[in-house]
Amino acid sequence: MIIHDKQNGLFTLHTRSTTYQMKAGPYGVLLHTYYGPRISGGDLSCLIRYADRGFSPNPDEAGADRTYSLDTLPQEFSCAGAGDFRLPALELELPDGSHVADLRYTGCEIRRGKYALEGLPAFFGGEGDADTLAVTLEDRTAQVSVELLYGVFEEYDLITRAVRVTNRGEGPVYLRQISSLCLDFQRADLDFITFDGGHTVERYLHRSPLRPGVQSVGSVRGMSSHQHNPFVILCERDAGEEHGVCYGAMLLYSGNFQAAAERSQFEDTRLTMGIHPFHFRWVLAPGETFTAPEAALVCSPGGFGPMSRQFHRVIRAHLLRDPLAGSPKPVLINSWEAFYASFDTDKLLSLAKEAAALGVELFVLDDGWFVHRDDDTSSLGDWRADERKLPGGLAGLAASLRALGLDFGLWIEPEMVSEDSELYRAHPDWVLCPPGRPHIRGRGQLVLDFTRPEVREHIFQSIRSALAGVDIRYLKWDMNRCLTQVWSPSLPAGRQGEVYHRYVLGVYDLLERFRREWPRVLIEGCAGGGGRFDAGMLYYTPQIWCSDNTDAIDRLHIQYGTSFAYPTCAMGAHVSVSPNEQNGRVTPLETRGTVAMSGAFGYELDVRALSPEEKETVSRQIAAYKDCYGLIHYGDLYRLSPPGADGVPAAWAHVSPDRREALVSVVAGSTRAARPFRTLRLKGLDPALRYRVNGGESCPGDVLMAAGYPLPAPRGDYQSFQLHLIAE
Ligand code: DGJ
Repeated sequence: MIIHDKQNGLFTLHTRSTTYQMKAGPYGVLLHTYYGPRISGGDLSCLIRYADRGFSPNPDEAGADRTYSLDTLPQEFSCAGAGDFRLPALELELPDGSHVADLRYTGCEIRRGKYALEGLPAFFGGEGDADTLAVTLEDRTAQVSVELLYGVFEEYDLITRAVRVTNRGEGPVYLRQISSLCLDFQRADLDFITFDGGHTVERYLHRSPLRPGVQSVGSVRGMSSHQHNPFVILCERDAGEEHGVCYGAMLLYSGNFQAAAERSQFEDTRLTMGIHPFHFRWVLAPGETFTAPEAALVCSPGGFGPMSRQFHRVIRAHLLRDPLAGSPKPVLINSWEAFYASFDTDKLLSLAKEAAALGVELFVLDDGWFVHRDDDTSSLGDWRADERKLPGGLAGLAASLRALGLDFGLWIEPEMVSEDSELYRAHPDWVLCPPGRPHIRGRGQLVLDFTRPEVREHIFQSIRSALAGVDIRYLKWDMNRCLTQVWSPSLPAGRQGEVYHRYVLGVYDLLERFRREWPRVLIEGCAGGGGRFDAGMLYYTPQIWCSDNTDAIDRLHIQYGTSFAYPTCAMGAHVSVSPNEQNGRVTPLETRGTVAMSGAFGYELDVRALSPEEKETVSRQIAAYKDCYGLIHYGDLYRLSPPGADGVPAAWAHVSPDRREALVSVVAGSTRAARPFRTLRLKGLDPALRYRVNGGESCPGDVLMAAGYPLPAPRGDYQSFQLHLIAE
C-alpha cells in the first residue's frame, strides 16, 4: 500500500510486515525517514535531529540556519558535490566540467501494478500484485531530472527500486556513478553480511560489525563474479535465523557492481548498491534517459529465516519466468564430469541408456560437441556439431535420446571465441581489446564484443542453425572468463566508459531473444559454475549452475550461503563421482544425493561405472526427489543448523506452505569416537499437528519443534539422512 500525504509531502509504503517512509522536506530535499518493522503511520521525520555540525555545509535555501545540512540528514537519494560527503547514489559530470548534482522534489505518481524496465531484468507484477510509486526530482541548474521508482509487493514484504536519469539540457551530461539503492539508517549498531569466495568456493557467508568509514564488496570483472555476490544484509548485532531486524538487499544485475555500507561520523549508516564506478562513464545526450539496474529490498523484523523465505517466494512468483510453467523440471544427467570433451555418439548413448534405466529424464550434452572441440583451446564461436563425434548431428542424437525416453539439452558459451576458430579468423576485430595490445586470455579464450548488434546477431543465427530441427528442451548458457581490456571499436574514445554496461545489456538482449525463439526451452545459467549467480540472470535463466564444485560437503557451504537470497529451485546441483573431481573427498552416495536434491537435481558422473547397489540407490534418490519435488521447489526453507559448526551436523528443512509436510535433511561432518548424541529441533511445523516420520512413528509438531528429534549416531564420515514428515 502506498500512501501519499500531500499536505506533509510524506510517502509511506506499507507491506505486510514492514513500513518504508520518505518525505519531501524543507526546500524540497527528499529525506528518508524510516524503514523497518511495520508501524501504524505518522510522520517519522520527527526522528530526524538537527544540529549545527562543524564542517557540514548548508545549502543556500537554509540561509543562516546552520543546522540544515545534506551531510547530516538521512537522504533518499544521495548526490555527490552538493554537501553530502557520504556515499553518493548519483555522481554527474556536467558540460562545464563540474561534478555537482543537487536534486529537489518536483512531483509524483502512484500507479497500480509494477513498473517495468526496458532491456533490464526486473521483478514483474500486475495490478493485483504490486503498486508503483514514481517520485520525480530535478536539478534545475543542471537541467537533469531523476525519477525514483518504487515497486511495492505488499504480500512479500518486497520493495524494489530503480532510477531513471534524463538530460533535459542542451549539452551532454556524463553519469559517473549511479546506484538504484540508497538507504539511510539513523543508527550504526549493525552488522554487514556479504557472500564471498572464488571459483569453486562461491558465496560463503561473512559477517562483521560495521566499522567507521566505508566497507564494500563488488566486482570489476564484467560479471557479478564468484568473488562477491550482489546480495548483502545489514542486520542488528544479535540478529539470527529467527530473531532480530535484518535488511536484505539485492541488485538485479550481472555485471560490475558495488554494494557499500558507510558508518558515518555521527553514527548513522548508508547502504548503496549499483553499478561499480570503475570505468563507468555514460554519456547522456540532450533528451536521453539512462535507466539504472533494479535493486530489491526485504526487511524482516524476525531474522534471516523469514527474510530468505520472502525473497524465495517473491523470486519464484515474480522474477523467474519458468518455461515449464509449473510442471516439474526433469532430472538430468550432464556429460561433463563423466566424459569432459572426450566422447562419441556410442559413448553418449550408452551413458544415456543406463541413466534412463535409473529414472533420469533429460540428457545434457555439455562442452565438446562442436567442430574440433577436443579440449578447451579451440573452436568457441563455431557452433556446428562435430561430425566425427556426432555423425547424425544434434538432431540425430536428440532423436536417439528420445527413443530412450530422454529429453535433450545442450551446452553453449555464446559470449566467447577461441583464437583457433573460423569465427575469430573471419572477425578478429569482434573481440573486446583496445587496438595494438596483445590479447589477455582467460581459459585460453577471448570475449566477444557483445555491445555490437552484428556480433550478437551472428552468434544468434549460428546457434539457431545448429539447433534447427533439433528436438531440444534445455540449454546451458556458460561463460568461462572475466572481461579484460574492455574497449569496443563501436564507440568513440569518450564513450568507452559505457562498454562494461553495454556488454551486460547485450547479454540480456541475446538471452531475451533466445527466450522468444525457444519459449519452451529451459535455460540454465552458468559462469564457470556460480560466477554469475545473481537475480539479474535469474530473470532470463530460471536456474543457475551453483558451482563447479560438486563435492557435497563444500556444497553445503555454497548452497547455504546461496539460500539467503535465492530459492532452492534456482540452484543447479548434481551428484558426482567420489572421490570428488575438485577436492578428492570421499563421500557416501546417499549424502551426495541429499545435498544435490536440495536444488534443481541431476547427475554428473558415469553412471555405467556404478555398482548394482549404487544404481539402486540412484533409482531410489530419483524417486524420492520426485516424491518431494513440490516440497523442495515450492516449499519454505528453514535453515536448522549451519554447515561447519564444530561437530554439529548441517541441517535444513523444506516445509509445505500449509505446514502439513516437510523434508528434513541432515548431513554430519567427519566422524569421531564417543560422539555426543544430538537432537535436532525442527522449525516451521504446525504445533497442533502430529507428523508421521518416514512412514513410521508419529510425533507431535510442538514436540518436534520445542524438544526436537533424536538424530541417529552416524558411523563413518559425512553420513546423511532425511526425515519425511507427513501430517496425520
Ligand atoms: C564450466 C561449467 O561450469 C562446467 O559445468 C562445464 O560446463 C564447463 N564449463 C565446460 O567447459
